[in-house]
Amino acid sequence: QAQAIVLGIETSCDETAAAVVVRDDSGRGAILSNVVRSQFDEHAAFGGVVPELAARAHVEWLDHIIAQAVEEAGIALGDIDAVAATAGPGLIGGVLVGLTTGKALAAALDKTLIAVNHLEAHALTARLTDEVQFPYLMLLVSGGHSQFVLVRDVGDYERWGGTIDDALGEAFDKVAKLLSLGHPGGPAVERIAREGDPERFRFPRPLLREERLDFSFSGLKTAVRLKAEALAPLAEQDVADIAAGFQAAVTEIVATRSRQALARFRTEFPEAEPQLVVAGGVAANARIGAALRETAGAMGARLVVPPAALCTDNGAMVAWVGAERLALGVKDGLEVAARPRWPL
Ligand code: KG4
Ligand code: ZN
Repeated sequence: QAQAIVLGIETSCDETAAAVVVRDDSGRGAILSNVVRSQFDEHAAFGGVVPELAARAHVEWLDHIIAQAVEEAGIALGDIDAVAATAGPGLIGGVLVGLTTGKALAAALDKTLIAVNHLEAHALTARLTDEVQFPYLMLLVSGGHSQFVLVRDVGDYERWGGTIDDALGEAFDKVAKLLSLGHPGGPAVERIAREGDPERFRFPRPLLREERLDFSFSGLKTAVRLKAEALAPLAEQDVADIAAGFQAAVTEIVATRSRQALARFRTEFPEAEPQLVVAGGVAANARIGAALRETAGAMGARLVVPPAALCTDNGAMVAWVGAERLALGVKDGLEVAARPRWPL
């Protein structure tokens, strides 16, 4: 059976990533290699991603990461059918590094170039990992994004709601910072929250009473900060209780919104199996995952959470969009531009 081999390049934030993915004519995919280099060390001292440092690290590492991805895939560079590179949204310096490298490779090898929307890459990953069929609902919760997206088909997306201020991962990171838990904050908050009492502090659930699929986390973050300041200096138990209270609040918010989004999905697609796909780094949170499983169960919906390594930024998801679009005959010219903002 005919299959397409696609090289994917991802450099829109703080991971330098490349992967090789194949897709056969029936739509089944497989990952031949998936190499990710996270820039934890570069940004650790700054408590967040520094765009200029990120771009420089991508310049330094990308060629090596691509070479490694091709080697681990057991192919020659000339064997690929297309090069897919993230063209946005993201930190523009890094996006330019990856997209320009992708263009150069496509031109030198005389292969198809596909400029990929990073959000689309998160949205379609579940078709690679779990062969999820259209339509489905996606909840993307990462350091840069928090949104519900209706995925109707390749290239056919509808945003059903998003954050009006901070992204959920960003809220975890900011809370971690003000509790002096280090960066990235999500895993640290989750770990310490296990030792805490989620009911000692009741933090606000912004927007929760409103009938809209949007998120707001900045008021919650402020409430956490005020509590931490009021209790300073914080004992270890205070930190754990605050983390647990914060996590309980965001878990309730995410679960409630997901229930509402699934209800809307059922109304709009009464014939379809309701499916909720979760992506982004926050999908790794066990407490949130358990709440979503319960919500999906109560709504008679299928919950799909791709493996953590494919929920966070990686090259395989970018290569996969390339493969899906290649199958539809969609391609880009070398003039395609990098876009810091690019809604789905
Ligand atoms: O998708 P991702 O790796 O990168 C992008 O933002 O694109 O997501 C990273 C975010 C960070 O904000 C990190 O704190 C959060 O995901 N995160 C978590 C957990 N693991 C990572 N948040 C809550 N609980 C976790 N276990
Ligand atoms: Zn991402």
